[in-house]
Amino acid sequence: MTLLRSPKTPPKPLPFVRKKKEAMALLGLKDMGNNKDDNPKMCKTTGLPRKRFYRARAHSNPLSDSHFPVPLSPSHVDYTLHYPQLFPSPDKVTSSKRIQFADIGCGFGGLLVSLSTLFPETLMIGMEIRDKVTEYVKERILALRLAHPGQYQNVSVVRTNSMKYIPNYFSKGQLSKMFFLFPDPHFKEKNHRRRVISPHLLDEYAYVLGVGGIIYTITDVEELGEWMQACLKEHPLFEALTEEELEADPVVKLLGSATEEGQKVARNGGQTFRAVFRRIDPPSDA
Ligand SMILES: C[S@@+](CC[C@H](N)C(=O)[O-])C[C@H]1O[C@@H](n2cnc3c(N)ncnc32)[C@H](O)[C@@H]1O
Repeated sequence: MTLLRSPKTPPKPLPFVRKKKEAMALLGLKDMGNNKDDNPKMCKTTGLPRKRFYRARAHSNPLSDSHFPVPLSPSHVDYTLHYPQLFPSPDKVTSSKRIQFADIGCGFGGLLVSLSTLFPETLMIGMEIRDKVTEYVKERILALRLAHPGQYQNVSVVRTNSMKYIPNYFSKGQLSKMFFLFPDPHFKEKNHRRRVISPHLLDEYAYVLGVGGIIYTITDVEELGEWMQACLKEHPLFEALTEEELEADPVVKLLGSATEEGQKVARNGGQTFRAVFRRIDPPSDA
């Protein structure tokens, strides 16, 4: 049985989803039909959702309590809802296939879309706090699945506050890649505690990343770049990738180009600051 916990309401069971219409209702989306011509929110040429219908405030306070359901534990994450073609019924959900990539603060989902076809066998999820933006990514994934049958089945998105609920979604050592692309800078010193990379949160990321797993970060804000680099460098469970390793990793090339924010920075000729670190075993005292 699938149990979800909302901070304000008691746990309630969710029915298992069999039809697209039900899935969309559960995901909080209106079913406008498959026909892009009937749905003004969809672009007639590309069949993808139009961003202007999903405008959201630029920022959301990650320290305030929002009211969205949160799984009680990683084993309560409903894979049938996120990856219906791969997990058509609850009895097909085995512990062997689990989400391995997490894009934290995924925005409009550009990185996930690129990674989905680059790693078609890997399950991945975007975590996004803004509801309209999350809704856009859901629509984008559904549209891509319809336009490319059999593809984009390994990618999903969830509205959540990653600063609070990472351990509800992923178990110890589950992830092999975590992405933090162009995170909100929170310039003022009193707001540094809102940053998604911090010494305290790195403890949590080290917990959900398997040894050898990689954290990718990039920003166009030099001070934030230095902060993320310093936090990672000082953490005993992370080590920087070498230049050769960065060069050989196909994902590194996507960091500045695959996301909407990265494309904006590139269009404006902005500089970027990257920090890519590997999760390592704790150093032995011997
Ligand atoms: C500047 S945008 C970058 C989006 C995307 N990574 C990109 O490169 O285009 C930062 C995103 O992180 C999201 N975000 C901020 N704090 C968050 C949190 N605590 N949990 C989940 N998402 C968060 C914001 O809503 C926003 O969409």
